[in-house]
Amino acid sequence: MTTTEEAVTFPQSRSCPYHPPAAYDSLREERPLARVTLWDGREVWFVTGHQAARALLADQRLSTDSTRLDFPLPTERAATVRRRRRAALLGWDDPEHNAQRRLLIPSFSLKRTEGLRPRIQATVDRLLDGIEAAGPPTELVSAFALPVPSIVICDLLGVPYEDHDFFEEQSRRLLRGPTVEDTEDALAQLEGYLGELIDGKRVRPGEGVLDDLVARQLRDGGPDREELVQLATILLVAGHETTANMISLGTYTLLRHPERLAELRADPSLLPAAVEELLRFLSIADGMLRVALEDVEVGGEVIRAGDGVVFSTSLINRDGAVYADPDSLDWGRSARHHVAFGFGIHQCLGQNLARTELEIALGTLLRRLPGLRLAAPAEEIPFKPGDTIQGMLELPVTW
Ligand code: HEM
Repeated sequence: MTTTEEAVTFPQSRSCPYHPPAAYDSLREERPLARVTLWDGREVWFVTGHQAARALLADQRLSTDSTRLDFPLPTERAATVRRRRRAALLGWDDPEHNAQRRLLIPSFSLKRTEGLRPRIQATVDRLLDGIEAAGPPTELVSAFALPVPSIVICDLLGVPYEDHDFFEEQSRRLLRGPTVEDTEDALAQLEGYLGELIDGKRVRPGEGVLDDLVARQLRDGGPDREELVQLATILLVAGHETTANMISLGTYTLLRHPERLAELRADPSLLPAAVEELLRFLSIADGMLRVALEDVEVGGEVIRAGDGVVFSTSLINRDGAVYADPDSLDWGRSARHHVAFGFGIHQCLGQNLARTELEIALGTLLRRLPGLRLAAPAEEIPFKPGDTIQGMLELPVTW
């Protein structure tokens, strides 16, 4: 590792919503490991190399326990909230993590997700019927990108979609609330709501994943109510927010790359490869966090026990040693092995679902609105700042 003259801080806002922050340019040559500084002045490792990233993400000497004092957190707000309480699944190491994940694997298998295709297609068609009937222009985040995954995850979990304004707002405050108090209040509201919903399911069972978990609890004792509420919280939040960002930012990126868009329109069989390439290119979950429990050697460096480790998803997915011409969007490349869904034991539980939703949402949008274009100058359309999840705040389009 070479030392940079000026410490780069993490996180940074992107200057273009589909490229890594320009502030990381100097770190791109520092592979596989660079150093960055967090909000509290602490220096941590910044993983930028693809091979090292996969090795480290699969290494159980790195922990995701955010309640440890040495766990690196990207903002003061996140540090306060996550030190007090860790998320289900993502905040736990094995064996506890494995016990939680085993409860959910059948509900998110490829087979189960493929079975949801007709319902996802019907949801997408219904939303596009409304958009077409209202006529152009429209704001695509609120009219399409957010409702698609929100309706799908509600349907899958057994959460009433009528409550979507409430839980979308709490998720937004949870991920991006202005203060610690606001974030903690959002979490309390969301957990209160899901707790009541789960209690209701004990007496009036339905058909969702949460109903299955409640039935299991009634049958053989576990998981307990608190664990159920925490699982429900991560599934509901992770299940709509990330996919919504991929749909909005994916659409914006396609509209900014007319040649790629034309290729996709001419040959829709490219869609699965295009979704994979967009996942690599956009790397919307840009910053996975770990702390080393023991010394770990990688790329000629030793990560010491207690060191913080931040994985730069966007730089890892643009490692030139793995992806030729990494800053270009190319449906012909094999984008497989990207880390947009993470890697190792915490690799995204909802990745099959997300891929299916993205294929159907983007494919149907392009097919049904062949004249789709931005309804405002591209540079003026606002996107999410800083932190670790990227996406568009608004997407005005016309056709
Ligand atoms: C395109 C959309 C999505 C992206 C880019 C994404 C990205 C990620 C990433 C990077 C991780 C690993 C984080 C880490 O290791 O620190 C993760 C984990 C997770 N994701 Fe997703 N995700 C997406 C959609 C979803 C959906 C639809 C669900 C639905 C339930 C979901 C549920 C989860 C859960 C539960 C975990 C934690 C898994 C564990 O700790 O075992 N995600 N996701």
